[in-house]
Amino acid sequence: MSAALPSEFAYRNGVLRAEEVPIARIADEVGTPFYCYSSATLERNWRAFAGALAGLDATICFAVKANPNLAVIKSLARLGAGADVVSEGELRRALAAGVPPGRIVFSGVGKTRREIEFALASGILQINAESEPELATLAEVARALRRKPSVSLRVNPDVDANTHHKITTGLAENKFGVEWTRAHRVLAEARAKPGLEVRGLALHIGSQLTDLEPFRAAFGRLRDLVLLLRAEGFPIDRLDLGGGLGVPYAGETPPSPRAYADLVRITLGDLGCAFVFEPGRILVADAGLLVARVILIKEGATQRFVVCDAAMNDLIRPALYDAHHEILPVAEPKAGAMLAAADVVGPVCETGDTFARARKLPPLAAGDLIAFATAGAYGAAMASSYNSRPLVPEVLVRGERFALVRARPEPDEMLALERLPNWLEEPAGVAAAG
Ligand code: LLP
Repeated sequence: MSAALPSEFAYRNGVLRAEEVPIARIADEVGTPFYCYSSATLERNWRAFAGALAGLDATICFAVKANPNLAVIKSLARLGAGADVVSEGELRRALAAGVPPGRIVFSGVGKTRREIEFALASGILQINAESEPELATLAEVARALRRKPSVSLRVNPDVDANTHHKITTGLAENKFGVEWTRAHRVLAEARAKPGLEVRGLALHIGSQLTDLEPFRAAFGRLRDLVLLLRAEGFPIDRLDLGGGLGVPYAGETPPSPRAYADLVRITLGDLGCAFVFEPGRILVADAGLLVARVILIKEGATQRFVVCDAAMNDLIRPALYDAHHEILPVAEPKAGAMLAAADVVGPVCETGDTFARARKLPPLAAGDLIAFATAGAYGAAMASSYNSRPLVPEVLVRGERFALVRARPEPDEMLALERLPNWLEEPAGVAAAG
């Protein structure tokens, strides 16, 4: 039915399954909406990526931001994945999921001193510094804690990744990294700071890249930089190439991990460096569905609306990036079913709460289950409780088994962190007078 679905999500006997489990059974047990992940797809994606890099000295650090669920991190960690983290919270998650500190890298443009202290105390593999002030803080903290962290400098290669402008990171105007042409000066200053040794370079030019050429341009600049720095006596022996490989959402044809790995070998393979990779989306995107129930069908003045119980707070990608997610009925449509255009929307009070416009869909009725495909990356990860909707739960499937790996919060739990100040507990007249 859909090219967007991996083989682990398929119709059998007229119903959509996740591996061996009918989606409708999970919906009955967990309620909707929920995210549903396939362990087998995660494993297959991991093997494709790691297998392509075989032979290179590579540490593959799953970009936790794409899907921070503990069970997802742990599923990948058991296959050998490290973690790329961008906050203390993500670092704590990675450690809690059993990722060895020696396989964790810390990226990000604005790490706080507290985060740097926690990272150094945890003994992680590498910290990617993105600016001179950050290098200065790193040197101070390292001295105070008597640690010798492995630091890489993130460079900005000024290359257009040809992706959505909100997820492009390697242009000079973007906030990330140090201009690659200034790296030499920054490293010379860093060398003068006791307690700090920068032996690596890092880059990440953007996300959802569907073409190899931007990678080729960026890796070429990185190569030039390594050679120049080595000629000046800087012992660069570690390269972090970030993430960014795209996935098909609507018929795109992104490069395969194999083509990407070949490019790495050709452009950088002879430098004798240890590599770090930070893939996120390519490992988890197609391993996840967002499952929702149709609340009602509304005949609007100019179009039909399918109103479902998932909303922009559960999956924000369409609202934020105009992203396309395939939408499938969980009950297999009859052969030759007529398709009709509808807008698929959620209940949130914003017009932006629209998953798809004029989408051709088979007949749907109130109570039907639908699934949004390719939602395993940046789906639950970016969910919120806007409109006081409970944070969306997550389910992990493995063969015939499934488990709730994040529960839907109870209404009381959602209020539990809030406090009323004592003046609001007093009678209204007193507060006004005070
Ligand atoms: N490394 C760094 C330093 C990053 O900033 C990112 C993603 C990654 C690795 C992983 O990139 P990936 O392999 O997943 O492309 N919320 C957006 C995507 C934001 C990506 C941010 N950085 C979306 O839903 O499309």
